[in-house]
Amino acid sequence: MPLVPMKQILDEAAKGHYGVPHFNVNNMEQAQAIMRGASEVKSPVIIAASRGALKYSDLVFLKNIMMACVEKYPDLPIAVHLDHGNNLESAKTAISLGFTSVMIDGSLKEDGKTPTTYEENVKVTREVVEYAHKFGVTVEGELGTLGGIEDGVGSGQVQLTDPNQVQDFLAKTGVDALAVAIGTSHGVYKFKIKPDPDKNLLAMDVIKQIHKLCPNLHMVMHGSSSVPQEYIDEINQYGGKIPPAFGVPLWAIKEGIAAGVRKINVDTDLRLAATAAIRKFLAQNPDKFDPREYLTPARDAMVKVVKERYIAFGSAGHAQDYKPITLEDAKKFY
Ligand code: G3H
Ligand code: 13P
Ligand code: ZN
Repeated sequence: MPLVPMKQILDEAAKGHYGVPHFNVNNMEQAQAIMRGASEVKSPVIIAASRGALKYSDLVFLKNIMMACVEKYPDLPIAVHLDHGNNLESAKTAISLGFTSVMIDGSLKEDGKTPTTYEENVKVTREVVEYAHKFGVTVEGELGTLGGIEDGVGSGQVQLTDPNQVQDFLAKTGVDALAVAIGTSHGVYKFKIKPDPDKNLLAMDVIKQIHKLCPNLHMVMHGSSSVPQEYIDEINQYGGKIPPAFGVPLWAIKEGIAAGVRKINVDTDLRLAATAAIRKFLAQNPDKFDPREYLTPARDAMVKVVKERYIAFGSAGHAQDYKPITLEDAKKFY
């Protein structure tokens, strides 16, 4: 078992009314942390590689680390996902590596920066869906662009998802899941102030409206690290210089899950946890230079974060609820 199409994990999450964290992976220690945490709390797993991660690892190293997760943890359903694919070629590469899910981020042009028109988004997304579904591979699309709602935060090109476009986009593209833009952004600097419920920094209404119109849609929240203050403090205490930063609070993610969000993307929190642990270790042990010695507390710190997220999003305890299916089985959906 169980390399599964991501659609199965999301379908099961919808049945059980919970969300599943998507964790980005770049190296062995991150992968081990994601899996150890999942195994300890019995959660299904979505491990994702960005194009940057694949480039950094020369494709083959990361691919084999991800497949090692499957070999080492045969009892957990695992989807291996391409994050922010930018064209058909990137999806083809991921599928040839054995990924069971791809994202095509058609909201931006191939440069990953310039917003596309709706028609361009539909076109490239449809191309990827036609290709991927032949292999039983799940496809996530994106409508709207990430970026903060608050003036001066994020890409400056924020375009919240228009709920009234969603049904048309689903009908024209056939995606299995949709990333929605509600004012979050990637990285550590999401908001300059803490997003309390009354500040309206997050457009939770967009999610609720989409859920009303498309109750069976699996929505995805990107840029959903919570940026725990303890890690910022620890990094700064041991020589770092991170200005005040606020992430997406767990209450907002839980509100999203209650309204149809099934996948929650987290990368930054693992980076922060690892960096805090490494800085602390090296500051306290200036004579040490064996990477295994500082990567061990970094890995432990990441295990703590992933376990907290599996529990908070509700996927903990659900790994063995269902019989895993193969990509071959998944072809029958389409
Ligand atoms: O989509 C954003 C993820 O955090 C990946 O980031 O492109 O630096 O690997 P990256
Ligand atoms: P964060 O930067 O908030 O962790 O978001 C990651 C993400 O959206 C990956 O696609
Ligand atoms: Zn993202």
